[in-house]
Amino acid sequence: MFRQDLLKDKVIIITGGGSGLGRSMGERFLELGAKLAITSRNTDKLTTAASEMTAAKGGEVFTVGCDVRDPEAVEAMIDAVWDHYGTVDILINNAAGNFISPTERLSHRAVDAVLGIVLHGTFYCTLALGKKWIAAGRGGQCLNIVTTYAWTGSGYVVPSAAAKAGVLALTRSLAVEWAHHGIRMNAIAPGPFPTAGAWERLAPTPELAQEALNRVPLKRVGEHSELANLAAYMLADEASYINGECITIDGGEWLYGGGQFSQLDKLPAEAWDLLAAMTKRAK
Ligand code: HXC
Ligand code: NAP
Repeated sequence: MFRQDLLKDKVIIITGGGSGLGRSMGERFLELGAKLAITSRNTDKLTTAASEMTAAKGGEVFTVGCDVRDPEAVEAMIDAVWDHYGTVDILINNAAGNFISPTERLSHRAVDAVLGIVLHGTFYCTLALGKKWIAAGRGGQCLNIVTTYAWTGSGYVVPSAAAKAGVLALTRSLAVEWAHHGIRMNAIAPGPFPTAGAWERLAPTPELAQEALNRVPLKRVGEHSELANLAAYMLADEASYINGECITIDGGEWLYGGGQFSQLDKLPAEAWDLLAAMTKRAK
């Protein structure tokens, strides 16, 4: 789909880059010539992921442990990557925390856990790196991974919905404010892409996993490579006029949820003959 040198020598930090979609994006970026830094809380997971990623794709993957809820740890992480590679070009704010729960069952600590990772963590990483880019008089790019309920909202994942909405507002706000520094801010809103992290917390039974599939008009989940290719496209220099945009990649899922008659896809074909006879009588 792309030139093999599309991201050649771009230094890319991926938060939560040791698992799931962060790792899949990282592997694609390595294929396209990028130099990676992956960061999250579990350093054993990061080390294993880095050696597997370089064994499979080549290139270099630097690892730094960091809890994105801790602003000082975030600054140290950004400094460590900058010192290691001599610069940073791109930040992927991908780390997240989430689980399904009726909201009235949540403690304030549960709310803080999700908002801390998703909203504060994204803000801290963006701020720490943005300050360095501005001080160095150079531009950069942030790509924030949100989801479609950032604008629709969703019950049962309310801290995540509130946090992702905040990340989308951050994306659009800084796309304007920091454009004159040459800093580009965009977002991707994925629909269902199976990962262990998400499925264990959001679809822990086969029935819930099937429900997730039923909402997608294309009747399939996303392939990690599809998301990774969209991210690579958005990061490329050739896409540098895209700023402040959020691109949805969900097989039509969120529009299905919004269409008042979308659920009619559950009717058997024979029912439509009867319904046609009934609705035609209405003239
Ligand atoms: C209710 C819960 C809970 C649950 C934790 N808590 N899990 N409450 N239901 N399932 C509560 C705890 O009881 C505690 O409150 C508080 O939350 C903090 O829990 P800890 O385990 O101490 O927190 P921590 O170790 O910081 O873990 C954070 C976490 C965890 C978010 C709770 O799940 C995690 O580490 N997640 C990271 C990976 C992840 O979530 N990946 C999925 C991303 S998918 P009390 O009061 O008891 O102290 C995604 C998809 C979006 O974002 C869109 C999909 C379409
Ligand atoms: P995942 O594998 O669980 O990814 C979450 C990552 O975040 C993990 O690597 C985790 O690593 C890291 N992380 C969690 N808390 C952290 C913290 N406090 N500090 C630093 N890192 C932390 O789940 P995923 O499905 O790939 O999700 C990736 C992104 O896609 C998320 O932003 C998610 O909201 C978004 N998304 C996913 C889907 C989907 O269907 N999968 C749909 C829409 C949006 P550690 O545990 O080592 O910290």
